[in-house]
Amino acid sequence: MTKRVRKAVLPVAGLGTRVLPGAKTTPKNMLNVVDRPILSYIVEEARAAGIEHFVFIVGRGQNAIEDYFDSSPEIEQALEAKKKTSILEEVRRDLPQPGEMSFIRQMAPLGLGHAVWCARDVIGDEPFAVMLPDMLMATERPALAQAVDAYEKVGGNIVVVEPAPEGEAHKYGIVALDGQDGRLNRMTGMVEKPAPGTEPSNLFISGRYILQPEIFNILETQERGAGGEIQLTDGMANLMAKQDFHALEYEGVTYDCGDKIGLLRANVAFALRRPDLADAARQAIQELL
Ligand code: G1P
Repeated sequence: MTKRVRKAVLPVAGLGTRVLPGAKTTPKNMLNVVDRPILSYIVEEARAAGIEHFVFIVGRGQNAIEDYFDSSPEIEQALEAKKKTSILEEVRRDLPQPGEMSFIRQMAPLGLGHAVWCARDVIGDEPFAVMLPDMLMATERPALAQAVDAYEKVGGNIVVVEPAPEGEAHKYGIVALDGQDGRLNRMTGMVEKPAPGTEPSNLFISGRYILQPEIFNILETQERGAGGEIQLTDGMANLMAKQDFHALEYEGVTYDCGDKIGLLRANVAFALRRPDLADAARQAIQELL
């Protein structure tokens, strides 16, 4: 029997360099896709996978995230008075139950591995999910739920992957597989930002993980890796000596919202997926073209 995955770590402290100056005063994961911040979609995806507690790893100047997940009496009262009930429901849809969210300051941008390590006390001794909120996934079954399904089948650690576009593997974490049969395969290795031509496969780490708590002991003493940062990929590669890792090639499309064109594509794609907006969005896009 595998222990249930109840908690998710959401590292959101990045500067959003590729979407500046928009991300100067608005944390990058609070930028809108259609009419909701990116984090709203991520939290919805997590809930659909059974997540009950959200651990945000934040940086300085990101209080807007905490405020978004709190009630807003002025806005709510104004909408109530004007009987704008559907907008009011939208405003309240992401509100957590009291105690469902924790916010931890990373204090220094030392890398993804360090960000995840900051969550150790709140996670404790149980398996947990990591979600990189830049990566917005359009799917039938939510991406993290697909990872949890895989975890319930094989246990251990799960890394969600997908094929990298031609010539882009060096920008990501890349996995090595023990043969490929279907979408869920045992991993034999992984490497963060391999030099072009040295990639062990074309499958990159997309930003959803199920990890065992033993990763924290490894991250605690880990040396810096690619880009001078404490890399989660290096920690996982180390844990692989003791525990099973499977890569899940998930079903869906990923939009990298930390990138200008990725964010634009996400806006278009998610508007086209909305029954209330699809027709008007299609018309607007056709006119622009
Ligand atoms: C991080 C991870 C990398 C992963 C990528 C997905 O890299 O370290 O393994 O493939 O996210 O976006 P970063 O984008 O922080 O350089």
